[in-house]
Amino acid sequence: MNIILMGLPGAGKGTQADKISKQHQIPHISTGDMFRLAIKEGTDLGKKAKEFMDQGELVPDEVTIGIVKERLAKDDCENGFLLDGFPRTIAQAEALQTLLAGLQKSIDYVLHVDVPEENLVERLTGRRICQTCGATYHVIYNPPKQEGICDNDGSELIQREDDQAETVKTRLEVNIKQMQPLLDFYHEKGYLVKVDGDQGIDQVFQDIKSILKK
Ligand code: AP5
Ligand code: ZN
Repeated sequence: MNIILMGLPGAGKGTQADKISKQHQIPHISTGDMFRLAIKEGTDLGKKAKEFMDQGELVPDEVTIGIVKERLAKDDCENGFLLDGFPRTIAQAEALQTLLAGLQKSIDYVLHVDVPEENLVERLTGRRICQTCGATYHVIYNPPKQEGICDNDGSELIQREDDQAETVKTRLEVNIKQMQPLLDFYHEKGYLVKVDGDQGIDQVFQDIKSILKK
C-alpha cells in the first residue's frame, strides 16, 4: 500500500505514521526525519537543510525531491511506503507523480490529518523527542512513564530546535499557505481522505485503520 500522510505541523503525522508503518510493514519515509538525521551527521545536505529548518521555512524543492527520489528507489519500498511530510508544495507533488510513474507505482491513499489550527501551537511546544530512538512524546497528551526519559531506552528527552514558540509561528504560517492547493490537487485525483485528528491518539489510529481496510 502506498500512502501519503498530510497535515499541518503538529497534526500528528509522525505519531500515526509509526503505527501505520508497523501495522502494514511498510517503511515510514519522513523528509523531516531525513533532514534531522543529516543535520546530526553533519553532512552537506544537513548543513543546507538546517539553514531553512531553523527559520521554520521549507527546504528548497530540488533538494527535497532529490532525497525522496533516492529513498523511493530502495528495495524496501517494493511492497509499499508511507510518506510523511512530503509532498509539501505543488512542485513536489508533480515531481512525485512523475517519479512514481517511472517506477510503475501509484498512490493508494492521501490521508489528511485535520486538526484546528488553534490546537497546534500547544502540541508543538509540548512535544519532546528521544534523540536515540526518535520516539515522540507530549508533556500532557503523551507523557513518558518517567518525566523527561524515553520509555524505550532511558535516554533523555529533548525539545526539537524548531519547536520553540517563535519558529512554530513561522512554520504554521508557511505550511498553512502551502496546504490548500495540495489538498485540492489530491482531491481532484480522488485520493484524498480526511481524518479527524482532533481526537485521542488511539482513536485517530482506529479511524485510519478503518479507512485503510476499505
Ligand atoms: P517535519 O519534521 O515534517 O515537521 P512538520 O511537518 O512541521 O510536522 P511535525 O513533525 O512538527 O508534526 P507531526 O504532524 O509529525 O506531529 P507529531 O506526530 O510529532 O519537518 C520539519 C522541517 O523540515 C520543515 O519545517 C521544513 O523546514 C523541512 N521539511 C520537511 N519536509 C519538507 C518538504 N517536503 N519540503 C520542504 N521542507 C521540508 O505530533 C506533535 C505533538 O502532538 C507530539 O508531541 C505528539 O505526542 C502530540 N500528539 C500527536 N497526536 C496527538 C493527538 N491525537 N492528541 C494530542 N496530542 C497529540
Ligand atoms: Zn528513545
